[in-house]
Amino acid sequence: MTAHVTWTDEYSLGYAPIDEQHKQLLNLLDALYSAEKSDGPTTHASNVLFKLVVFTETHFAYEEMLLELVGFRTLRKHSLYHEIMKSKTREIVQDFRKNRSFDREEVLLFLRDWWINHILKEDMQYRPLLADHGLITTRHA
Ligand SMILES: [Fe+2]
Repeated sequence: MTAHVTWTDEYSLGYAPIDEQHKQLLNLLDALYSAEKSDGPTTHASNVLFKLVVFTETHFAYEEMLLELVGFRTLRKHSLYHEIMKSKTREIVQDFRKNRSFDREEVLLFLRDWWINHILKEDMQYRPLLADHGLITTRHA
């Protein structure tokens, strides 16, 4: 299975704080992949999963606050996607705590596809608004 997660400039919104958070999230997913490859359900995987929950929720809160400040019109819909992902991520961790294992391939592919899809399809929609507010710091490729 190839579940490696690597950042590419294609995912960049050009707003450094959000880009950094997205990079860290993808790094955590990749760390989960490495933990998966090493030696079964380990403390390491558990640590990464807990970080993932905290980081996911912190990132969404940050993003929603930013979108509120710039007046993103479809914030409600966007936040709803965040809510669903928060529950999913918590579910994954709870399952892991219960069973000390999880369907790694399924979980990893789900997380990776969700995040990449969300960045490219949903987060990119607020990019023009950040540009209008003079927040874009780098040129989009
Ligand atoms: Fe988002």
